[in-house]
Amino acid sequence: MPSIDNAKDNGEIKPPQQQLVCVTGAGGFIGSWVVKELLLRGYRVRGTARDPANSKNAHLLALEGAEERLTLCRADLLNYDSLRSAFTGCHGVFHVASPVSNDPELVPVAVEGTRNVISAAADAGVRRIVFTSSYGAVHMDPNRSPDAVLDETFWSDYEYCKQSGNLYCCAKMMAEITATEEAAKRGLELAVVVPSMTMGPMLQQALNFSSSHVARYLTGAKPTYPNAVAAYTDVRDVARAHVLAYERPDARGRYLCIGAVLHRAHFLKLLKELFPQYPVTARCEDDGKPMAKPYKFSNQRLRDLGLEFTPLRESLYETVMCLQKKGHLPAPVATKRAYL
Ligand SMILES: NC(=O)c1ccc[n+]([C@@H]2O[C@H](COP(=O)([O-])OP(=O)(O)OC[C@H]3O[C@@H](n4cnc5c(N)ncnc54)[C@H](OP(=O)(O)O)[C@@H]3O)[C@@H](O)[C@H]2O)c1
Repeated sequence: MPSIDNAKDNGEIKPPQQQLVCVTGAGGFIGSWVVKELLLRGYRVRGTARDPANSKNAHLLALEGAEERLTLCRADLLNYDSLRSAFTGCHGVFHVASPVSNDPELVPVAVEGTRNVISAAADAGVRRIVFTSSYGAVHMDPNRSPDAVLDETFWSDYEYCKQSGNLYCCAKMMAEITATEEAAKRGLELAVVVPSMTMGPMLQQALNFSSSHVARYLTGAKPTYPNAVAAYTDVRDVARAHVLAYERPDARGRYLCIGAVLHRAHFLKLLKELFPQYPVTARCEDDGKPMAKPYKFSNQRLRDLGLEFTPLRESLYETVMCLQKKGHLPAPVATKRAYL
């Protein structure tokens, strides 16, 4: 019999039934799906939250397998001791938690929090870390050639992000660099998942930033749209990417998790086609100027790990159905439309 830690099948670590892993920020949009995916694959999961007993985390306890294999514990990214005790006995850590904000006071939370996570994980004897970065750390460079194919080698321009007030991008860049440097120093194996704007159904009740991005267009709160291009991905693909990157023992470094890149006009057209009953704006704030061009990207590294990307149309459809179900949008008036 292979030992639990070394059980392998076709180069993959089998999820041993008793392997314990920790997910930071378990109750958030992406964290919840990572927890769900891990439970479905048979892991024992410890999820961290700043206030685990808060009803905003109740959805986690209702997940399949949660009763037997999920525990929640209190941890703050700025509190080393809380992280150290959350990681005790864990084989791997999925570091998902981060403020999602441009507030300058929260930049140190993302960066120092990541330093604490790596340090506490190493001290607790954890072997493998999967860190959640963001494509905000990758694509924000006004001088990038329009012909470039965006891949894992690209980094945002830090000064540009700072000057344009995109402090979230600065924080994610610095946090990712910190994770990489500290993990190397401490001899930890690190894989980095780099999701773009993440769509798809929410498991939690409260709106997270990327879900509210969609909701605001549907409620009519946004009278115009920017002349901008963005990259999108589905939250279930992001969760699978985390687990794939964890389970492949040779997976190291960055994995760009992007399913589609399109201009906001095309994104909104798709939304309007799927849900014509909502007052989605058709007015660009840059009317008359040439449209920003979508860029090319490569998600080959994740495809090589076996990830298949959900079509954006399907993802958007399910985002909106979920927003309706959770009461973030007015009740549907039209009949359900097929997305395929
Ligand atoms: N959604 C996207 O479009 C997207 C795209 C790319 C990357 N990401 C990255 O994915 C991760 C999760 O984002 P999300 O969209 O799921 O956001 P979210 O729903 O707002 O979740 C953020 C999580 O971070 C935790 N957190 C924040 N500050 C903390 C602190 N000081 N100590 C401990 N936990 C803290 C929160 O935990 P509490 O419950 O304790 O508040 C929450 O669970 C982040 O690293 C984000 O940068 C997101």
